[in-house]
Amino acid sequence: MKKIKITNDVYMLSINVSDILFEGIWDIANGVTLNSYIVKGEKTAIIDGVVGWDGVPESLYENLSEIDVDPKDIDYLIVNHMEPDHSGWIENFKKINDNFTIVCTDKAAKLVDAFYGNSIKIQVVKEGDTLDLGNGKVLSFHPVPNVHWPDTMYTYERDSKVLFTCDMYGAFGKFDDHVFDDELTEEEVEFFEFEGIRYFSNVMNTFTPALKRAIAKSKEFDINVIAPGHGPVYRNNPNKIIDDYTRFAQYSEGAGKDEVTILWGSMYGMTGKAVEFAKGILEREGIKVNMLEMPYKSESEVVANVLKSAAIIIAAPTYEYKMFPPVAAAIDEIGRKKILGKLAFRFGSYGWSGGAEKELAEIVEKNKMKWDFLESVEFEGAPREEDLAKIEARIMDLIEKMKEKVI
Ligand code: FEO
Repeated sequence: MKKIKITNDVYMLSINVSDILFEGIWDIANGVTLNSYIVKGEKTAIIDGVVGWDGVPESLYENLSEIDVDPKDIDYLIVNHMEPDHSGWIENFKKINDNFTIVCTDKAAKLVDAFYGNSIKIQVVKEGDTLDLGNGKVLSFHPVPNVHWPDTMYTYERDSKVLFTCDMYGAFGKFDDHVFDDELTEEEVEFFEFEGIRYFSNVMNTFTPALKRAIAKSKEFDINVIAPGHGPVYRNNPNKIIDDYTRFAQYSEGAGKDEVTILWGSMYGMTGKAVEFAKGILEREGIKVNMLEMPYKSESEVVANVLKSAAIIIAAPTYEYKMFPPVAAAIDEIGRKKILGKLAFRFGSYGWSGGAEKELAEIVEKNKMKWDFLESVEFEGAPREEDLAKIEARIMDLIEKMKEKVI
């Protein structure tokens, strides 16, 4: 666990977690950090307390001792968001401290009861309520519902101008030595940008309308530091992560980087031959290509790459009268995550009958994805010269049309 001083009497404790499925679903290749924050006035508050993934808080207690905080003396747990990656330690904490108050929204209070029983003192707060910790440290609370869950709020510390945003402005990816934005190398900035997109797409994208409201709300504060529950802390340029999240929200509605993702699968290499051809055309035209061969790529990689791309090529054959199942499942997941308005083109092989195209239309319709598809190219068995010529023509159209989508 890392102990970091954020500013006077504000500290961060953070742990790296890996080899987990985040939310029990997402295979996050580069792990995640869980960040909690301590604010010390005459009274002490811990914001978004975290422990190891196993729920054992001993390392947290040890680290608190090292910054002169006795866990038994913690007065307030500020629960910005009740998801157990942030609140999972409460059950255990109750065993060593029976005199603390949870500060949270009304929606979180119901969840505290449901998750950890009704024996905990709770102070419900609403927009603008404050908590004076003494020694000049005053916290204020600002609900941002559906920044992930309906219970979520920001906490703002007026003296040091730190905005504690929990899931908002978070990123996957573990820390090495560097925690603050001004410490990150160019490579680490790039790493956390992709891990931010991965986090946004895996966890947050479904709630994009709420995230846009939360972005607007964060702009109302005079901010020195943005301190999220996952990923780097922004003290040099907090606007950078606000701008990044603004861009990610635009990706969610159809914009993207100047990149094409090919989401594909092939049973015996017939569709695969056309995929190689398509990749070559894109590379010839100087377009960055992200290859997602299913079922070999994780859903985490799939939604992250699709979210950030200005255009998507779906290459999948017909399988038993429907679309090749791992590609169909991936498109359904993209739809469930509400990645909307993408420019797309599909091709694929069929044998004794078609069916992939019909299932694709059903998935897109069911999830109300509003994707803009160019006319598909289907071929019987292996692609012939005339099929490849059609694919090339369609890709050239795609490259032209995607210019409107690139931001
Ligand atoms: Fe980091 Fe929605 O929990």
